[in-house]
Amino acid sequence: MSLRVKDLSHTYAGGKANGQTILQPQSWTLTDGQQILIRGISGSGKTTLFNILAGLLQPSTGSICYGDQALYALPEAARDRFRARNVGYVFQNHHLIGSLTALENVVMPIAFANNLPPTQWRRRAQELLDQVGIGALSHAGPKQLSTGQRLRVAVARALANKPRVVLADEPTAALDEQSGSQVMDFLQQSCLQNHSILIVASHDPSLSQRFATTANLKSGHLQWAEAQPL
Ligand SMILES: Nc1ncnc2c1ncn2[C@@H]1O[C@H](COP(=O)(O)OP(=O)(O)OP(=O)(O)O)[C@@H](O)[C@H]1O
Ligand SMILES: [Mg+2]
Repeated sequence: MSLRVKDLSHTYAGGKANGQTILQPQSWTLTDGQQILIRGISGSGKTTLFNILAGLLQPSTGSICYGDQALYALPEAARDRFRARNVGYVFQNHHLIGSLTALENVVMPIAFANNLPPTQWRRRAQELLDQVGIGALSHAGPKQLSTGQRLRVAVARALANKPRVVLADEPTAALDEQSGSQVMDFLQQSCLQNHSILIVASHDPSLSQRFATTANLKSGHLQWAEAQPL
């Protein structure tokens, strides 16, 4: 499924950025299996762009199409269902549900999508937690986990339904080099296997070498570049 951004721009009304255009008009398209890195200083608009791509924030202008489906043409409830099936979002602040265990947080989207028989939900969730290296912590609640461990739960949850598009907002920010590299390997390999589009936002310069295509978000514009060869 392709992801097409057409004439997208965004200006927040209210807040500190009142009236300031965070995303200048832009159009771009990604195809199945493509993996890109979006860089940009703090406040440049990476999370804003991700929230728009995920269907959580209606842009001021323009459209987002997943295949033939215009995301904001859907009413909110249908858009939520569309996101649950097609988009995996690793939020910058993780957004885990505090009253559920790590395992239950991953079971949630599996149950919501209802593609597997219920007897397999927990096994699938456990498998994902094992793959991100925190299988032993599946019964811990988010408050009992470190920031990096919570992030891994968020990654497992985002990939639970093999979404067509994965958005990962600063997925390595809270991790040491080795754990960061493990999480990135998992994200990239899973997306390759599923032919999913992967978009990662990060300040971490060491991630550039993992991506054939990078884009720098500056003054609201995405400046596209092929990554420097190693
Ligand atoms: N809900 C909001 N209302 C008003 N302004 C907002 C809102 N959310 C973000 N902004 C502003 O939009 C700009 C871009 O914020 P955003 O969170 O997208 O940046 P970012 O690139 O993700 O930053 P970071 O690297 O720190 O996560 C900032 O100036 C921020 O203050
Ligand atoms: Mg951000």
